[in-house]
Amino acid sequence: MFAYKASAQQGTRMFRAKILSKCAFRRKMSSRLVLGIETSCDETGAAVMDETGLILGESLHSQKEVHMKTGGIIPTVAQRLHRENIGRVVQEAMERSGVTQSQLSAVATTVKPGLALSLGIGLHFSLNFVKLHQKPFIPIHHMEAHALTVRMLQPVVFPFLVLLVSGGHSLLALARGIDDFLLLGQTLDEAPGDTMDKVARRLSLIKHPKCSMISGGQAIEILARDGDRLKFLFKPPMGAHYDCNFSFAGLRNQVTMSIQKKEEEEGVEQGTLLSCVNDIAAATQHTVASHIAKRTHRAILFCKAKDLLPSCNPTLVVSGGVASNQYIRKILKIVTDTTGLHLLCPPSKFCTDNGVMIAWNGVERLREGKGILSHTEEVNYEPKAPPGCEHNSRSEGGSYQTSTIKAEGYGLTFTYVHIHIIPTIYH
Ligand code: KG4
Ligand code: ZN
Repeated sequence: MFAYKASAQQGTRMFRAKILSKCAFRRKMSSRLVLGIETSCDETGAAVMDETGLILGESLHSQKEVHMKTGGIIPTVAQRLHRENIGRVVQEAMERSGVTQSQLSAVATTVKPGLALSLGIGLHFSLNFVKLHQKPFIPIHHMEAHALTVRMLQPVVFPFLVLLVSGGHSLLALARGIDDFLLLGQTLDEAPGDTMDKVARRLSLIKHPKCSMISGGQAIEILARDGDRLKFLFKPPMGAHYDCNFSFAGLRNQVTMSIQKKEEEEGVEQGTLLSCVNDIAAATQHTVASHIAKRTHRAILFCKAKDLLPSCNPTLVVSGGVASNQYIRKILKIVTDTTGLHLLCPPSKFCTDNGVMIAWNGVERLREGKGILSHTEEVNYEPKAPPGCEHNSRSEGGSYQTSTIKAEGYGLTFTYVHIHIIPTIYH
């Protein structure tokens, strides 16, 4: 978490240096400017960006340290922390940008999905702000923002395949436009970051000297480097389900049972650091990674069979907090290399939640003139905005003969005979 803050500040310094140049100053004055605000979970983030994607100022307050001490996010605590910090975070981003409220072209804020009490703080603050300064308001879908972040960094054309994996989401979709996503699969229970956070908590990794101040997923990644994943064999999830959905709850159950067994064998109480934490971390990470890779592989094969990706430079974009995991990236690289796709992952600081990605989504919408509301319009937040189902739901199922990938060294072999997919459209 501290590493994140440090890199965010470094990033801001870098961009502030750019502000000082005459060229950037001229560009700032001629370009439309967007303030982005994020409060959907446990980060209070704000950023000011110009229409070219240049970050003029940003600020981020992470609540992770507080939630780690209480063993998980308590919504009322998250709400209080957002309320206490949002004014300062927005002011900091504005001050660092050197932009005044009157120079802004619009305010973009996450309104779905997320924790109701957290979303409410960002929305309430933003609606007051746009009313006071008479600015247009752009409501943002958090997952759309994660999916589009990569386009802020490099020109990635639609359509592309996107994998979003974080503490709250796990989904595969074909991005066909800034607000047009064909959903190929999503988690049936919990998200991979949530699973790793819970495993880390059950292992009491907060007591481990290498892991006291970092998220559960990061802790698992660090300990796994010194572990032997073959010491624990967990059954891969959904082996008999030939679709692109995910499931991680069963894996968490298996890991919990193994931890209990080890505690009994070692004669220690729950809450004691086990001698085999590295091995458990390595086996958990590997099972999560190979499940994600197999579902992604199937989605790629489906897109190829249906001719959904461009023949020139077909791309897989991976984002969300779990996308910062280097082991998962390496396994996904094997899949993309074998299937001829280009793999793109934004740097870690843009994979986890932040205000920059919301500002960028605002820029994308402003450019296309989509979803821009007047400051007088009523807007509500939506804690559950499941990708899809309610609109234009349609089946594109089918079975395809597919290929095999052998990833030596990782012990992975993917062989698929069928792909059954029931995708839906979502906004
Ligand atoms: O995208 P994010 O900041 O928030 C959500 O929208 O959920 O993702 C946070 C999640 C946490 O569950 C955290 O444990 C996980 O991302 N995470 C990681 C790593 N860094 C963060 N998981 C695995 N490996 C990592 N290096
Ligand atoms: Zn997120």
